Amino acid sequence: MKVTLSVIKADTGSVGGHNTPSQAMLAKARERVEEGIRNGLLTDGRVTFTGDDIAFTMTHTRGVDNADIHKFAWDSFVETTNIAKSQGLYGAGQDLLKDAFSGNVRGMGPGSAEIEFEERPAEPFIVFAGDKCGPGVFNYPLFEAFASPYHNAGLLLAPDMNAGFTYTVMDVNYTEADKVVTMKVPVDYYDICTLLRDPNHYVIESVVENNSGLTAAVASTSRLHNISGKYVGKDDPVAIVRTQKQFPSTGEILSPWALAHYTLGDNRGSHHVAVMPVKQNSIISYFDGPTIISAAGYCVRDGKLTESVDLFDQPFWDYIREKASKKTLEIRAQGFYGPSMAPMDELEYTGVMENLKRLGEKFIVRKK
Ligand code: F6R
Ligand code: MG
Ligand code: MG
Repeated sequence: MKVTLSVIKADTGSVGGHNTPSQAMLAKARERVEEGIRNGLLTDGRVTFTGDDIAFTMTHTRGVDNADIHKFAWDSFVETTNIAKSQGLYGAGQDLLKDAFSGNVRGMGPGSAEIEFEERPAEPFIVFAGDKCGPGVFNYPLFEAFASPYHNAGLLLAPDMNAGFTYTVMDVNYTEADKVVTMKVPVDYYDICTLLRDPNHYVIESVVENNSGLTAAVASTSRLHNISGKYVGKDDPVAIVRTQKQFPSTGEILSPWALAHYTLGDNRGSHHVAVMPVKQNSIISYFDGPTIISAAGYCVRDGKLTESVDLFDQPFWDYIREKASKKTLEIRAQGFYGPSMAPMDELEYTGVMENLKRLGEKFIVRKK
């Protein structure tokens, strides 16, 4: 059966600061999914949260970019926003950047990742959801998991993957339209590294297996920074990754996350910290962070989802969480100096420009 997986996620308000949605918001979101299934729009659906973002993981048969599915998500976020407002929550409706829905949530604030495929006899996949980070957080782990034999032993041991993968990479600083480039690994290996080294500018949108032509992974690519022109929260992206058989194994896909790589996000979207792989439904805390990522594993048959397995809820990841905390504390100890804070063009609070202008006027140029 051909199924579409749509993961759509937004921050519509949170308790205690930018920390977590309220129980009442989550209950409303779950109620909406039940309604969506009852009236035949959705085949199945789940509601989860990562930090202050609510994510809908939905299956249906309407294909990607379907206006009804996107409207369902948008209307649901409007309803959770209304609850957030009624409870006095912080940042109510934060990611709903437009007043009226216009056919697709892309470019309107929420993050979305969607994929349509013919179900394999067994169809395992992972939904990754991040908070306090931009879409570039996936560059390192998605590139390494598919393209590097350090993580993907299947590249050497499983003949299916020998032909490598095709990456579509988006230039997220271009705001007129989608600007993308498609490159194949291994042949374009160095060129693709040249782009991915700058995860605030170039981000992976999808990964396709060269041998079968099957799409293995899709990630959300919106940059709120570029939609609204002012700081309205980090993008907090999502990704869907199909695993096993002709794709890397679930464990190979998780492998790069053990680095707890540094990314831009965290407090005021303007600090470099180590990404912490967390359990489902984890909150935000230290320094409005740290940047967190959750991973839910599912299987799907005829569009019906299994229960999810919480892939970072395992003792191995306790050690990585400790490592991530140590790495974050190390760079945090440097405060605002140099690489611990974002470079000028990535600083999310534009107030710094006014301060610099004011200070600029105090400078004097010494006579020779
Ligand atoms: C990060 C984030 C928070 C806020 C910070 C200040 O994505 O949303 O770190 O930037 O809490 O928020 P305001 O300016 O709303 O008080
Ligand atoms: Mg927020
Ligand atoms: Mg968030």
